[in-house]
Amino acid sequence: MPAERLHVLVVFGTRPEAIKLAPVIRELRRFRSRFRTSVCITSQHRHLLEPILRWFQIPVHDDLDVMRPNQELCGLSALVMERFHEVLVRRRPDVVLVQGDTTTAMVTALAAFYHRVPVGHVEAGLRTLDRYSPFPEEINRRLVSHLATLHFAPTNWSRHNLLKEGIPRRRILVTGNTVMDAFLETRDRVVCRPPAIPELRGLDFRARKLIVVTAHRRENFGPGLTGICRGIHHMALEREDIEIVFPVHPNPNVRAIVQPTLGGLERVHLIEPLDYPRFVWLLNSAYLALSDSGGIQEEMPSLGKPALVMRENTERPEGVKAGVCKLVGTSAEKIFRTVTHLLDDRRAYEKFARRRNPFGDGKAAQRIVAALRNLASETSLTR
Ligand code: UD1
Ligand code: UDP
Repeated sequence: MPAERLHVLVVFGTRPEAIKLAPVIRELRRFRSRFRTSVCITSQHRHLLEPILRWFQIPVHDDLDVMRPNQELCGLSALVMERFHEVLVRRRPDVVLVQGDTTTAMVTALAAFYHRVPVGHVEAGLRTLDRYSPFPEEINRRLVSHLATLHFAPTNWSRHNLLKEGIPRRRILVTGNTVMDAFLETRDRVVCRPPAIPELRGLDFRARKLIVVTAHRRENFGPGLTGICRGIHHMALEREDIEIVFPVHPNPNVRAIVQPTLGGLERVHLIEPLDYPRFVWLLNSAYLALSDSGGIQEEMPSLGKPALVMRENTERPEGVKAGVCKLVGTSAEKIFRTVTHLLDDRRAYEKFARRRNPFGDGKAAQRIVAALRNLASETSLTR
């Protein structure tokens, strides 16, 4: 490890990784005398990534360009491995930073390990303890934990998970989740200057309550997603006091179910994914969110609004425990009943506003980079 500048290579490929690493990249770049920062995108996502790079002004040094239509896990992993190996050979970083539990995070961490480059894992220690749910993320993140040497756990609960798996205490730092850094900053910017969303022009979210929906998890493809769409269909037919806005993930397995079931329904607006500022504005205007997303479970609580999680389990039980998130699964009936209850029972709804957000205070990136600064002179990171 050099005593002068530490060369940190930050790598990501999907929408949530980009959002959650943007604050870390910015913070690293604030300390130019201590760090040389390189950014590598795998482009596991192409269309979802570009607007985030622009919004957070992230410079890109290497682009692995791996996205293929309807990509499957083995081919994607092989391509990321082969191309990231070349980047490691060329750039020779001191540390590689990865985020979360995607194929990009798992494969690049493994490649870095093969090159004996220490890996820092942002958002470490999330677990459901169900190897197939979420699939393949639960196994991806467990593998990353055993490849990494620095573990930035968002909460005490995630730290505890790592300790149980034998990760050394001195290598774990509880930081809060970097999504809060990105979200709070973006919300402040969009509240001052609301962005236009042409697809939603003319809708009045004071006259009708806005319900935001997203869905993309692989374990929900098929019956799970069908149940979700039936629940939304039922709501749209029964309730004239709501507007449902559903930015549809570009994964063809999602579109194949969502479009035929919900397309053309009154008060259901199927739109393209929104860029981050527009989506944050939408969440800020929403009455509640129905989602299987990880990030949205962390963002809605900071607005004091319900996040109904359309999954059977969650790696973020802190939200459920704090009463800011609720697991509703993918049964059409349960989704319909829970939303109806929160629309009709004001007191039940208002309880969400009084809860504390357990996911962070917007200073996670500062803590991560401070830890890297302290470690810059350490020589034992590869052990
Ligand atoms: C991936 C991650 C998941 C994460 C999610 C966030 C894996 C295995 N999955 O799932 O953990 O929660 O991203 O959204 O790493 N596509 C486009 N344009 C895009 C992005 C995707 O067309 O910008 C389409 C392509 O056909 C692509 C497909 O979506 O092949 C699936 O993308 P992929 O990254 O494999 O999986 P996600 O379901 O997006
Ligand atoms: N998001 C966005 N536009 C959208 C939908 C989601 O910017 O149309 C943001 C959302 O605010 C959150 C992140 O994307 O920060 C979550 O990504 P996703 O649900 O794809 O992945 P997950 O968090 O489940 O891994």
